[in-house]
Amino acid sequence: MSTLLLLNGPNLGILGRREPEIYGTDTLADIEKAVAAEVSGAGWEVLSLQHDSEGDLVRDINRLHDSVGAIVNPGALMMAGWSLRDSLAAYPRPWIEVHLSNVWAREQFRHESVIAPLASGIVVGLGSLGYRLAARALLELVERNP
Ligand code: DQA
Repeated sequence: MSTLLLLNGPNLGILGRREPEIYGTDTLADIEKAVAAEVSGAGWEVLSLQHDSEGDLVRDINRLHDSVGAIVNPGALMMAGWSLRDSLAAYPRPWIEVHLSNVWAREQFRHESVIAPLASGIVVGLGSLGYRLAARALLELVERNP
């Protein structure tokens, strides 16, 4: 069975109670379920991993090169996560960067992502819907380029 990685960085484990006016009220478990529902028809399973430390994300990305693709919300690592960036550069499958909030409508320090230039695509500002849209996009990308 093909495995889709759902990777979330620091502070995303407390979604639902983390600044809900910015990030919404869906929990990570809600998002996992929604993404799994999007891809189950294609026979994909979802492996959801959330880490508050960059090294743990890097280790998981490097050990899971046999996955079919990835959805990545790097959280604040978007701004300076250089080792995360390098692990994604070596990741051999398509992956999509997701941010729940519209980072460009927020503080200046959130306006640059060190991983964005490597992503197959980026979904920003659509809340938890962004993860589902990223899952749909990956289904299409993988179908076109298995
Ligand atoms: C975020 C945006 C980041 O700037 C922030 O540090 C997060 C969440 C988002 O999903 O909107 O942790 O990635």
